[in-house]
Amino acid sequence: MSLSPHEARVEFPILRTHTYLNSCSLGALSHRAEMYLDEFLGLWHTMGASAWYEHWMEKMATLRGKVEVFLGGPEGSLALVPSTSAALSTVAESVPLGSKRNRVICSELDFPTLAYQWSVKPNVELVVLPSPDGIGMDLSQFAEAVDERTLFLATSHAFFRTGFLQDISALAEIAHDAGAYCVIDGYHGAGQIPFSLTETNVDFYTAGPLKWLCGGPGLSYLYVRPELIQELNPRITGWFGAANAFEFDIREFRPHDDARRFEMGTPALHTVHTALGGQEIIDEVGMDVIARRNRELVDFLVEGCADAGFSLTTPGNPDQRSAIIMIQHTDAPGAVARLADAGIIVDHRPGHVRVSPHFYNTEEEIAFLLGALKSFPG
Ligand SMILES: Cc1ncc(COP(=O)(O)O)c(C=O)c1O
Repeated sequence: MSLSPHEARVEFPILRTHTYLNSCSLGALSHRAEMYLDEFLGLWHTMGASAWYEHWMEKMATLRGKVEVFLGGPEGSLALVPSTSAALSTVAESVPLGSKRNRVICSELDFPTLAYQWSVKPNVELVVLPSPDGIGMDLSQFAEAVDERTLFLATSHAFFRTGFLQDISALAEIAHDAGAYCVIDGYHGAGQIPFSLTETNVDFYTAGPLKWLCGGPGLSYLYVRPELIQELNPRITGWFGAANAFEFDIREFRPHDDARRFEMGTPALHTVHTALGGQEIIDEVGMDVIARRNRELVDFLVEGCADAGFSLTTPGNPDQRSAIIMIQHTDAPGAVARLADAGIIVDHRPGHVRVSPHFYNTEEEIAFLLGALKSFPG
């Protein structure tokens, strides 16, 4: 089945009552996600724990399979984990840590949780590269910083602060040329732009259903490059990481041969269900269509901001932009609160009103936001 962005609008009830332009915080909830959630609750009522064996394990496998295809990874390359922070912690605790390779290189524009994994480890040196313009990074900065002492090049696919898109294939190459691993926080990549992880050659990629995949909070995805999986033995783990979990043998831990060895304990099953609903819609609309539509919406928003005299902290080059647009404002929390009174949901980050349209939005909604924002100048 295929859906156009316009047809997909009816799936999202919030679009009938609000002007919803905050998908980079939380993707809209769909009827489809709600239907899967109701199914889960119904089985809990009628089958109790036996639903695990007959339905829920299979739902987890279905979600893993769909997300693997979506990210362009082969079967067995994806783990379901509780959060991006947990995924990154597992990655940090899966590679050998020697005294010669103990540096991690990230940028000041990355989401802090990416750096925290390593800043708490006394034997790791964390290097935070500055952004030359507060918007993006030059690949040459990473190329200069990554060397034979580097364990990880750890950075984002799209920066949460500015929406700046990075070339993750080039980042992987920079890391590999120096013998380092490349880990990408892809929370704002997956669901915004089409790509295939197999082609990028990154070692680890984290994503999640919360934002652009419209699947809600409580779960994240960890992709591990297949050639690496069996070389790595996570030093934090749990029974879902064990191939022999249902033998309940306390003396023998035998990890899965595939990326499930990076899983830990019982996942948030309600999110497995809502994530399936969101993922189905994303797949039916298609990533190429979503990326094209988001580009149109972003171009319209950027032009509208220019006409209204708003300044942006957003890449000037449209090819480096994603659908996170930062409008400078001296009272961003106040503006966001007043926009909410008008039924417009956006967010703020220091000094900025943050607007993040997705495929289900329209130019009319963006025009409505801009008109309202003009009456709260900042
Ligand atoms: C880029 C990015 N990475 C990581 C996170 C945090 O992820 P989690 O709460 O799943 O650890 C966020 C949350 O907003 C984010 O925007």
